[in-house]
Amino acid sequence: MAVPEKILTNEDIAAIVETNDEWIVSRTGIHQRHVAEKGETTASLATKAAALALAMTTLDPPDVDLIIVATSTPEHIFPATACLVQDALGAGKAGAFDLSAACTGFIFALNMAAQSIRSGSIRNALVIGSETLSRWINWEDRTTCVLFGDGAGAFVLEASDRPGGVLSCTMRSDGSGGELLSIPAGGSRYPTTTETLARKMHTIHMNGREVFRFATHVMASATREAASRAGLRLSDISLVVPHQANLRIIEAAARGLKLPMDKFVVNIGDYGNTSTASIPIAVCEAVGAGRIRPGDNLVMVGFGAGLTWGALALQWVATEKRVRPAKRRRRTILVWLAHARSFFRRVYRRIEGILWGGRAKAGP
Ligand code: ACO
Repeated sequence: MAVPEKILTNEDIAAIVETNDEWIVSRTGIHQRHVAEKGETTASLATKAAALALAMTTLDPPDVDLIIVATSTPEHIFPATACLVQDALGAGKAGAFDLSAACTGFIFALNMAAQSIRSGSIRNALVIGSETLSRWINWEDRTTCVLFGDGAGAFVLEASDRPGGVLSCTMRSDGSGGELLSIPAGGSRYPTTTETLARKMHTIHMNGREVFRFATHVMASATREAASRAGLRLSDISLVVPHQANLRIIEAAARGLKLPMDKFVVNIGDYGNTSTASIPIAVCEAVGAGRIRPGDNLVMVGFGAGLTWGALALQWVATEKRVRPAKRRRRTILVWLAHARSFFRRVYRRIEGILWGGRAKAGP
């Protein structure tokens, strides 16, 4: 995982809009969030998280077959953020694309990658959730600006003969609720104009109460569905890793499932809602704290704009691989070579463009 160093506390936000720590904590469970500084972007956070994830495996960047970046706040409309990550990592053999399903994106991306591996078409995949939501917030709107944070988390998936890994996935959507949570402008419906800018249509617009109601309905049902499709009873699940949008939504899911809160990973207090990054960041922290061990059954469950929702059941089989110093040195050299190749390709394209342009002018 990778989060920006800069932290914005509730007190910091209370200095910007009319709010207070007591309201934010009691309504959401959020105490602080990390926000990107100048130079930090969705691609740079994704690359950092991805490099850290790869460093825990025996794969080198050129071995990676597929990169999916799930994001709601991409670097550009195009090119895909995943392509920028591919270049920065030096993953010269990887196909790369973005997946847009708002906060459920990481679950959908994980399922897509797992099924591609299962079909035999690829051997491994890098799945990343990365966001810079702070860039899309209306900092005058107290109903949304208190909720979101920036960060990234990454998983590496590999083919294996061992049982386990992704067991089942429920993927659902309901576009009739699209207007409940959106960034209305900047796409083909409302291209950027002075009016869209003046009306702040390029920032997050949300009907919080409706999204809250929807989320409390679907979190428990999606968890049940994914568990039952995997042939698991709720008692077989070691931990539920929910999307971190609001502590009260997670508590409602726990009540709906009749599970104690200690079965849920909760870190919303430190990060706020980081959309697609929230589940992988929560998993990273739970692994770091020794709460997830090989053999454990987990359910990851999320919801978001779209509307989308989904849950993925998996058996954790990952163990950190010891990487020998010689291999680490080789990796560093490979990344340097990839950066040099990327640089020379840009230069070559420029020269080729000048030569072709020159010839075209010289033609009949
Ligand atoms: N500080 C102080 N008061 C506030 C603030 C604030 N930051 N925000 C709203 N209020 C006020 C409102 O103006 C309202 O005042 P009023 O009664 O005088 O009109 C009052 O607090 C209650 O407002 P509600 O909207 O009813 O507050 P609620 O308890 O529903 O909490 C919240 C709002 C936190 C947004 C909640 O509805 C929520 O979490 N919804 C789900 C949001 C969510 O999960 N979104 C992310 C989806 S993921 C994705 O795809 C990006």
